[in-house]
Amino acid sequence: MTFTVAIDGPAAAGKGTISRGVAGKFGFEHLDTGLLYRATGRRVLRGDDPVTAAGALQAEDLLGDDLRSGEVAQAASRVAAIPAVRAALVEFQRAFARRAGGAVLDGRDIGTVICPDADVKLYVTASDDVRAERRFQELRAAGADVTLQSVLADLAERDARDAGRDTAPTKRAEDAFLLDTSGMTIKAALAKAVQVVGAVYSSGG
Ligand code: CDP
Repeated sequence: MTFTVAIDGPAAAGKGTISRGVAGKFGFEHLDTGLLYRATGRRVLRGDDPVTAAGALQAEDLLGDDLRSGEVAQAASRVAAIPAVRAALVEFQRAFARRAGGAVLDGRDIGTVICPDADVKLYVTASDDVRAERRFQELRAAGADVTLQSVLADLAERDARDAGRDTAPTKRAEDAFLLDTSGMTIKAALAKAVQVVGAVYSSGG
């Protein structure tokens, strides 16, 4: 059985928590596709060529706390605008989406480019202030020395670059369920996502 859930949205909208929760609930595997771009960006910060870096990613590239840093996030967003970098990462993501037992992929272009035929698509978003506050708390809890202002600026810069690029910009697929989590607890947002996915899954896809 294959069953693909595509979850897209701007930075720090809650995609990660929702994706992990949906995957856990239904027994699917989860791929945070942002990690592929972050890992590529981190290799570039260390001196690699972007396209070579994307093509050479290994499992261990997806490890390390520094992948979550603002510096690596910015590098990820810059390499993600290079069409050849994105092309190098497509097959791995599509193969993951087809794995037996079901898959949840979260990112920016899953429902539009990577898996346009996904069984369920969600577009998760929240206001700029809410997203910045959530990411600020996350980074602080991880020990990062950041201010709310710097986090807000980082998200705004990445969102503008990610939504404005020519190749696979951040975009809601026409058939994606819009989940605005601004006024919701993350628990309520996850419950809604589980309900939307469950309605399709229980009807046989
Ligand atoms: O966690 P957050 O939402 O801040 O970012 P992420 O999902 O880890 O993605 C980091 C960066 O990778 C984004 O700013 C995008 O530029 C890029 N990305 C992308 O272009 N396409 C994807 N499917 C996933 C991430």
